[in-house]
Amino acid sequence: MSEPRTQFATRLGVIATTVGSAVGLGNIWRFPYEAGAHGGGAFLLLDLLFIFIIGVPVVCAEFIIGRHTGKNIRGAFRALAPGKSWGLVSYVGLTAAIMILSFYSVVAGWTMHYTVSSVTEFSGRMSTAALHDRFDSFASSDMAVVWTLVFLTANYLIISRGVQKGIEKMSNILMPILFITLLVFTINSLMMPGAIDGVTFLFKPKFSEITPAVVLSAMGQAFFSLSLGLGCLITYSSYFKKETPLVRTSFITAGLDTMVAILAGVIIFPAVFTFGQEPTAGPKLVFEVLPSIFSSISGGVIWSTLFFFLLFLASITSTISMAEITTAYFSEEFGLSRKRATALTIALAMVFGSLCAMSFGSLGHITIFGMTLFNLFDYVSSNILLPLGGLIISVFVGWVLDRSIVNSELTHSDRPASRVITRMVVFCLRWLAPVCIGIVFIFGLGIF
Ligand code: TRP
Repeated sequence: MSEPRTQFATRLGVIATTVGSAVGLGNIWRFPYEAGAHGGGAFLLLDLLFIFIIGVPVVCAEFIIGRHTGKNIRGAFRALAPGKSWGLVSYVGLTAAIMILSFYSVVAGWTMHYTVSSVTEFSGRMSTAALHDRFDSFASSDMAVVWTLVFLTANYLIISRGVQKGIEKMSNILMPILFITLLVFTINSLMMPGAIDGVTFLFKPKFSEITPAVVLSAMGQAFFSLSLGLGCLITYSSYFKKETPLVRTSFITAGLDTMVAILAGVIIFPAVFTFGQEPTAGPKLVFEVLPSIFSSISGGVIWSTLFFFLLFLASITSTISMAEITTAYFSEEFGLSRKRATALTIALAMVFGSLCAMSFGSLGHITIFGMTLFNLFDYVSSNILLPLGGLIISVFVGWVLDRSIVNSELTHSDRPASRVITRMVVFCLRWLAPVCIGIVFIFGLGIF
């Protein structure tokens, strides 16, 4: 049998691990490139709406399920709705978790390479074209696959150590360092000549840019960034103590997560306009823009190394949360030891992650629905599976789950949520979230 279930040791640990899961490449890499490709301010506005109107209540819903049952996602649904098909949503979650872990590890591998090459190859000012070539030649090489595998191995080493010793300890140390570094970079970017253009691009919504596809992407981004919709937060909250205030924790997570995404935008876009780059560059945006910032400031080698190293650390606190979903599932449902369950998760991600990494090089010619494997994994998991999972979870908690469980989970803590807040959360789960997600799906996917 698997080991007895642990809990996060401290309140700081709960916040650091949950925020550690939420804050990652989604904020610093994905948000700027999605916002850049979809009109800047308009995308940010939609993203914020989705985060606070739908995201926060659905985060609460995942917390309610996880903390109440104290189980992995399959076990949780079995405990709450025995014999019903609601548990099928766990399979959506498990599939999406492996998909996201796979492509995410490719990008995390890039951050490891860039950390190392910041030291070994830093060559001062490089032209935009040279930065472009540098990224392309690396991402299409076999080394990109190697770094993906190295990154996943690092995950194995942390997760197999267990919840408190591995996950919680890492997050407590790393998250504060990340915040401070981001602030330093923000100030630096705001002093660049292109600062005004960059900030205007990010904050001034051009409503003409809003199309159904942009709305769908913004919804996907909100879910992705909050680690929402595939049971990651169900799994993490199963390690929460009974006193942990759920509504408060979800607001703190959403608030800090949003702050980091906005800081990342304020770091990236002024540099994009200062160095004459294109905001629409896609996944490589951050990897081409950041080095141009570093090459323009004194002590660039140190900043570059530090930044990519922190980005790597932010990635790993997120990937351990994805891997924990299937690890908890394999170990609790099939009685595997924690080490074996972790190994199985990481092995699956290694196979699909290598394929995703190769889709920037030797497998680049293989496209499905016009997307490479990497883009397909990202699109399907973020824009379809996460909101679908979120839809089912909100309907389940809003309509099916016993109201007394919902109320007691939301209010029984040392800082209980008020009745008004509790009612608002329930209203969002019953009506707002399902209706909004449904409408965005219908139009964004072009069903009509
Ligand atoms: N939220 C993380 C980020 O922004 C990524 C992430 C971690 C995630 N766990 C998840 C995304 C679960 C979806 C589901 O980088």
